[in-house]
Amino acid sequence: MKLFRPVLAQMKLRSAYRSLLPLALAIPLSLTAEMSAQTSTLAATPPMGWNSWNHFAGRVTDQDVRNAADALVSTGMRDAGYIYVNIDDTWQGERDAQGNIQSNAKFPDMKALADYVHSKGLKIGIYSSPGPLTCGRYAGSYGHEQQDAATYAKWGFDYLKYDMCSFGPIVRQESNGDPQKAQQIIQAAYDKMHRALVATGRPIVFSLCQYGVDKPWEWAPALGGNLWRTTGDINATYDRMTLIGFSQAGLSKYAGPGHWNDPDMLEVGNGRLTPDENITHMSLWVLLAAPLLAGNDLSQMTPATLAILTNKEAIAIDQDPLGVQGDRVSEVGPVEIWSKRLQNGDVAVGLFNRNGNELPITLPLSEVGFPNGAKARDIWQAKDLGTLQGNYTVEVPSHGAVLLRLSH
Ligand code: GAL
Repeated sequence: MKLFRPVLAQMKLRSAYRSLLPLALAIPLSLTAEMSAQTSTLAATPPMGWNSWNHFAGRVTDQDVRNAADALVSTGMRDAGYIYVNIDDTWQGERDAQGNIQSNAKFPDMKALADYVHSKGLKIGIYSSPGPLTCGRYAGSYGHEQQDAATYAKWGFDYLKYDMCSFGPIVRQESNGDPQKAQQIIQAAYDKMHRALVATGRPIVFSLCQYGVDKPWEWAPALGGNLWRTTGDINATYDRMTLIGFSQAGLSKYAGPGHWNDPDMLEVGNGRLTPDENITHMSLWVLLAAPLLAGNDLSQMTPATLAILTNKEAIAIDQDPLGVQGDRVSEVGPVEIWSKRLQNGDVAVGLFNRNGNELPITLPLSEVGFPNGAKARDIWQAKDLGTLQGNYTVEVPSHGAVLLRLSH
C-alpha cells in the first residue's frame, strides 16, 4: 500500500515557474459570506462538459464551438451531464480604447455565441491568464481583471479557466527570488480574479490552472477555486494519460463538493488511444472524481467513444453526491487497484493493468471494505456478477481496466 507519490514527479513544468517552492498558505482561509456562497453552490459535483483545447487547440472557431454545443445535444451527452462548453485559448482580440477585451475574427460575437449555447440548455466557459499574455500569446487579464470579469459576465459566461502562462516571469521579477513572496503574489492574482468574478454577481465556475506547482490543492479552495489543475498538460497517449492519472494518489482529502482536483481534460477519442486505453482513462478519471471535460471533436466521434463518455453508471461514480475522491488501494508491479466510496455505502473499484500483456488481477474484497463479501456489478460489461466472496479474479486486457460497483 503506497498512498503518496509526488504528483509532479516527471511532469512538465513551466520553466518560468520551476524555482518556486511549496510554502505556507499566505492568504487567510476566511472568506466573505458572498464568496463562500459562490463556491458552495457551484460545482457541487465535478464539472462536466467539453473544452476546445485538446482537439482544436489554436484553430478553434465560433463555428466549432456551436458544432460542439449541437453535438452535446444530439448525441445525448448533455443529458448525460456534459453541460459546459468551454472555449480555451486563442479567442482574444485587441483591447479597445477603454481597455475592454474584444474577441478576434474567429469569434465575431461572443454574446451571440453565449446566447446560442444557452439556447441549447448548456453553459459556456471562457479562458484567460493572470499574466499579460496567455500561453498562446493572446491578451491576458493582467491589469484588467475587474474589467474582464465584467465583460465575461456581460457576454453571459458561466465558467473561467485562469491559466498562469506569462504571469510566471512577473512573479519572478516582483518576488526578487523570495519563494514565499512569489507564492503570495500568485495567490493574490488568483484571489483578485475570484473577487472580480464574485463582484459581477453572476455565478462563474473558477478553474485554476498553474500546472499543480506548489500544491494548489492546499490553497486554491480558500481562494474560491472550484477546481485546480494538479499536473502539467495531458496529451493523447497512454503513457502521459496514465502518468498523470496514477500520480493522483494521496490527493483525495483535498477534494469535495465545490472544490475538485483537476488532473486535466479528457483525451477519450483523441490520438491513438485504443478502446482499452480509453476505458482506463475514463475509469481512472471517474474514480478520481475528476472534472469530465471531453476534449475530442464531438462531431466526428465513433460510437465506441460516445459509449465510453456517456456510460451512465461510470458517470454516476464520478458525480456521486458524497463527493469523495477515490484513491489507490494497492500497486504491485503493473497492477493498480483504486477505490472510491459512494453515498449509498457502495464502493467503486478499478482494477488496472498497465502491462503490455493481459493479466489476471485479484481483488481481495476485504481490502476494499467487504470482508463478508459483496454484490458486484461490472460497469463496462453492464453485467451483474452476483455475490462475490473472498477474492475476485478477472482477466484484464493490456492497458485495460475493469470497473466494479460493490454493494453490501
Ligand atoms: C496550457 C494549459 C492547457 C491549455 C493551453 C492553452 O497552459 O495547461 O490546458 O489551456 O495552455 O494555451
